[in-house]
Formats: sequence, C-alpha cells, structure tokens
Amino acid sequence: MEPHISLHNFSISVKDRREQNKHNSFVLWFTGLSGAGKSTIANALETEMYKRGIHTYCLDGDNVRNGLNKDLTFKPKDRIENIRRVAEITKLLIDSGIVVLATFISPYKSNRDTIKSIVGKDNYVEIYINTSLEECERRDVKGLYKKARKGEITNMTGVTAPFEPPESPNIEINTETETVSESVKRILEYISPKLQTYNNE
Ligand code: ADX
Repeated sequence: MEPHISLHNFSISVKDRREQNKHNSFVLWFTGLSGAGKSTIANALETEMYKRGIHTYCLDGDNVRNGLNKDLTFKPKDRIENIRRVAEITKLLIDSGIVVLATFISPYKSNRDTIKSIVGKDNYVEIYINTSLEECERRDVKGLYKKARKGEITNMTGVTAPFEPPESPNIEINTETETVSESVKRILEYISPKLQTYNNE
C-alpha cells in the first residue's frame, strides 16, 4: 500500500448487507472466446435471478472498454490490466452485497488466478462458455473474425492471440449442444445452495 493511506472500517459489513438482501454475494465469471455466448447467457440468467429477487449487476467487456477501460488495447499487457481493474470493481460490488455477472474473454489462466485472489476463492464461480472457434467464426455476430482473417484487426483472440481454456471451471457450457434456457437452468441449480449460505458464516 502507498504510504499515508489507511483503510477505514465502516459499521455496516458485507455480512449485514447480505443479510438485508437475504442472499450471498459472489461473482459468476464467464470466460470464453468472443462470440461464444457469454453475454447472451449472462443476460438470460440475470433476468431469471431478477425475477427471484436476487440483486445483480452485469459487467461486460465491450461496455467496460467503452468507459473506464477505454485507454486499453488488446495487447497482452492491456488485457491483464483490463481484467485486474474489473476484478477490483467486482470485489467492491461483492462487498456491496450483490451477485456480479462478469463477461470477459479473460484469455490467460494466470490472469484468471489473479481474479480469484483479488475477490477471494469462495466468492469466485468460473463458468467456461466453451464454443469452438469454428462456431464463433461461423456466427461472427460482430464481423470481427472476418476482419481479423483479412488482417484488419490485430491480436484477435483465437486467430492471432491465444485463449487458454480453463482446466477446472465450476461450470462448463457447450453452446453447440445446449440451449440458452438449459444453460441458465444448470447455472441456477449450481448457485442455488451458494446463494443461501449468507448467514451461517
Ligand atoms: S479481454 O481479453 O481483455 O478479456 P474483453 O472481454 O474485455 O477482452 O473484450 C472483448 C470484446 O472486445 C469482444 O467481445 C469484441 O467485441 C471486442 N474486441 C475488439 N477487438 C478484439 C480483439 N482483438 N480480440 C478480442 N476481442 C476484441
């Protein structure tokens, strides 16, 4: 920590906020290639959680890079900084008592380990949206793969930049064999007990 900085202790703790919300707070971290379906699944999941009275917030790569992180590129060093900043925001949001749905390519294993150490391993649920590069390129919703193949975009994940698949994600989703609603159901089942563990710590 920088000198002359001292952390302040506030009277209301994360435990109090979780109790008031009547659910636990943590992050659902979606990782996967661009166009894999991270935001689509997170959006459908957040809608279901909202209906159940769960307090949530979505942090999305394209949105964050349009504001807070607009100074960052897709070079490795900037991707690492992108994820570090988002992990720090996520930590604050978890402390505020809500469930965060974070959708970032987050391509490096070491970088995802950093997220876990920033937010705390008990607060981190990793969801790997495992859609093949072939399928992402076939969908090419944003036209980025086409541009990357033509050399108009550099450092494109899966084409000219790496993606290191998670070795042991908490949940793995194959969007080529499973519908969005099936994926949402599976995630809801997984997080249901975790949501309830807010008052027995
Ligand atoms: S990350 O690698 O740093 O985690 P992040 O999730 O924030 O990436 O941003 C990914 C989004 O940026 C993609 O969904 C895509 O819309 C856009 N994008 C623009 N250029 C690239 C690129 N070179 N590689 C990957 N995504 C890109």
